[in-house]
Amino acid sequence: MLDLLVKNANLPDGRANMSIAVRDGKIVEVAAGLEAPARERLDAQGLLLSPPLVDAHFHMDATLSYGLPRVNQSGTLLEGIALWGELKPLLTQQAIVARAMTYCDWAVAKGLLAIRSHVDVCDPRLLAVEALLEVKRRVAPYLDLQLVAFPQDGVLRAAGALENLRRALDLGVDVVGGIPHFERTNEQGAASVKLLCELAAQRGLRVDMHCDESDDPLSRHVETLAFETQRLGLQGRVTGSHLTSMHSMDNYYVSKLLPLLAQAELHVVANPLINITLQGRHDSYPKRRGMTRVPELLSAGVNVAFGHDCVMDPWYALGSADMLEVAHMGLHVAQMTSQAAMRQCFDAVTVNAAKVMGLAGYGLEPGCHADFVLLQARDPVEAIRLRATRLKVFRRGKLLSEAPAATSQLRLPGRPGQTSMMLL
Ligand code: FE2
Repeated sequence: MLDLLVKNANLPDGRANMSIAVRDGKIVEVAAGLEAPARERLDAQGLLLSPPLVDAHFHMDATLSYGLPRVNQSGTLLEGIALWGELKPLLTQQAIVARAMTYCDWAVAKGLLAIRSHVDVCDPRLLAVEALLEVKRRVAPYLDLQLVAFPQDGVLRAAGALENLRRALDLGVDVVGGIPHFERTNEQGAASVKLLCELAAQRGLRVDMHCDESDDPLSRHVETLAFETQRLGLQGRVTGSHLTSMHSMDNYYVSKLLPLLAQAELHVVANPLINITLQGRHDSYPKRRGMTRVPELLSAGVNVAFGHDCVMDPWYALGSADMLEVAHMGLHVAQMTSQAAMRQCFDAVTVNAAKVMGLAGYGLEPGCHADFVLLQARDPVEAIRLRATRLKVFRRGKLLSEAPAATSQLRLPGRPGQTSMMLL
């Protein structure tokens, strides 16, 4: 006897009318026209069943703090960092936990069931670290929260930051972070990359650095990140987040850089909503877009995910935990408008992001966790186009969230009767 049998589902890889059999929280079979006794049945009616959305880059310690203690006037990354510095002394553990728990509720409702969040470790009280470790424990039954020890003010630039970062890892933070372009000099930035990769290798941890988040074409710490990854045997375990300077780099240099990143099996996370708003602020016209070279990275064989980065915080006033909105923006900024490229944008907020996090048991195959989302769309392109309603969200075969299908009742002059309309 199965626990759940989903019938007539379209899958993101193009398989249509598939059945998915679930027992004990796992997918046991995926096949067309499968029939078996089951305690629960769900007819997907030809709609898209996707593995959960995944956000590979977020800041949960800052989320939902917009306006505290004031808003970012210039809209720049640097004012955002300064504003976060003003907010830090006012933070309480209770408030961080409450805001993060609210955000995780939003996430579940949007089918977002795995998040990698950076957490600032520069405050010697480690208030945010302890708060997010508590949130991680609380949400564990329904959401995978992975934490990155992020030295926001620079691991070498800020007094005590390295010691605080080590303490955060001792407390159970999962991944080693960094911010080489914010160190005082290029040499210090490179030294920070070397130091932090060595620390990760010693502890058997993954690395995810904010790297070259600037419009400076000569910000090239990603080169050092790839080098250290290979030197220390960390291939496949290191992520370069942002890499916005690649947008402005010399094309010849990029032609040398791309194969180096692929050889190091570096993962890349672009954050389209944030990159398009924070970068290019010093430009007049033409204004650069500031997002890294996503299609070129993908063509070189690099795994690229899109992250949300910020929702209602010192850097960004908007957002709603909707990774389809992130994919939608990424698609536009990178001009990824072919059918194949639009599907790649869907992968960037699902399977590619799961690879960044190293999630085990992710996917719609036998043996994977029975975690999936039924969307009010027939395929990934339609899901992005409509930022489709998440009709049902399952984790380990159990329903976590459901929403009614989006419909409008039209009452149009000259058109008698009421028309019920769905944008499908
Ligand atoms: Fe970030």
